[in-house]
Amino acid sequence: MNNITTYLNDNKDRFLNELIDLLKIPSISADSKYEDDVLKTAEMIKSSLEKAGCDLVEICETPGYPIVYGEKIIDPNLPTVLVYGHYDVQPPDPLDLWESPPFEPVIKNTELHPEGAIYARGACDDKGQLYMHVKALEFMTETGQLPCNVKFMIEGEEEVGSEGLAWYVPRNAEKLANDVILISDTGMIAKDTPSITTGLRGLSYVEVEVKGPNRDLHSGLYGGAVANPINILAKMIASLHDENNHITIPGFYDKVEDLSMSEREEMAKAPFSLEDYKSALDIEAVYGEKGYSTNERNSIRPTLDVNGIWGGYTGEGAKTVIASSAFAKISMRLVPHQDWTEITELFQSHFESLAPKGVTVKVTPHHGGQGYVTPIDNIGYQAAAKAYEKTFGKVPIPQRSGGSIPIVALFEKELKSKTILMGFGLNSDAIHSPNEHFGIWNYFKGIETIPWFYNYFTELSR
Ligand code: BES
Ligand code: MN
Ligand code: MN
Repeated sequence: MNNITTYLNDNKDRFLNELIDLLKIPSISADSKYEDDVLKTAEMIKSSLEKAGCDLVEICETPGYPIVYGEKIIDPNLPTVLVYGHYDVQPPDPLDLWESPPFEPVIKNTELHPEGAIYARGACDDKGQLYMHVKALEFMTETGQLPCNVKFMIEGEEEVGSEGLAWYVPRNAEKLANDVILISDTGMIAKDTPSITTGLRGLSYVEVEVKGPNRDLHSGLYGGAVANPINILAKMIASLHDENNHITIPGFYDKVEDLSMSEREEMAKAPFSLEDYKSALDIEAVYGEKGYSTNERNSIRPTLDVNGIWGGYTGEGAKTVIASSAFAKISMRLVPHQDWTEITELFQSHFESLAPKGVTVKVTPHHGGQGYVTPIDNIGYQAAAKAYEKTFGKVPIPQRSGGSIPIVALFEKELKSKTILMGFGLNSDAIHSPNEHFGIWNYFKGIETIPWFYNYFTELSR
């Protein structure tokens, strides 16, 4: 691969400015107010792929937001890499915690990012990371060094469950045929410690309602004599974990794959400082399932968390009231072999069984997806490992992540191909949080590393 660093240096400002333009559009898939912006972002991705050298680019309609599909086929006998990413972003709230507005990108220098980091919603997740792929393609086509075929499939509903893509993929399996799927939508251990994500957790997301009396009541006149839905909901939620922080839903762990002692020892070799972890979050202690380390708790073990809880009076001052209903949003992160639809059913029947007389419980499933583990004994992983070694000077560490990209398991099922997760983000990038950012160093390192993947993958496919 010739002159990637020269090419990067010559185009540095343009590469940054193009990403900044993309980040200015609030493509929030969760909020229908932003529909026009989501669609506009799809158009921007389309034209960026055209400029980067794709021969064919289309906006493909789905029941939800469209898929941007692009391809550059140089020779049908050569291997084909399918790149996936998402152009939608999470809602930015709470807005008042942002130091600069989420859709007015600014570059700030920090201790970790002396070269600067771009602050904006989507900077890392996933506009910045998907745009690395667009620019890597541009480099390879402009310099005549693309060694294989490339297809792009960029969706606009990842943050809300990828329903449109789940509809699109089985209907277009032939068009999407590939030898490996490449995704940059995860992270790495540290700037000087490259890693390849080898696992993602599954997800089951539900909303619950506990309903009591037919109206809000005076808490003096009725308090103590009727079931208070908020008290009951709090009790029910609390009972979902036991004293060892084990989840109490019957059958929940039945299909969980236990790692062998040697696999766990291997995992524990990855560099990690509990002190740094705690101080980055300003917490005195970590918390979690007994018998597992922090890195095990957030990757190879399933979890259950309340994501939101509401009901009753939450305005200024005090109001003495017993609410008629109480609500919560609950997510369960799952590990391979746990089936998300089965877990959703187990949750539903258990949660309903917890309700005392005097209240009714409604569980509404939202969305979910299966977990995923990539084996490391395939040429996709090996090509990625060699690419990192080339540009970081270090062999990357395989690491299972706690996050979810539910569509990856579907890719394997429908397209029969393995996914390689080459992420360049850092945990400190604050994805989904206020002040999300992406290091400029990481952005350019991604653009530099990706072409090597294509090269090694093509080489190893021979
Ligand atoms: N890119 C993230 C997932 C991720 C981030 C995986 C970092 C590993 C490391 C993705 O955009 C995301 O946020 N996924 C959601 C799931 C989705 C169904 C809303 C998640 O993990 O909460
Ligand atoms: Mn993402
Ligand atoms: Mn996300």
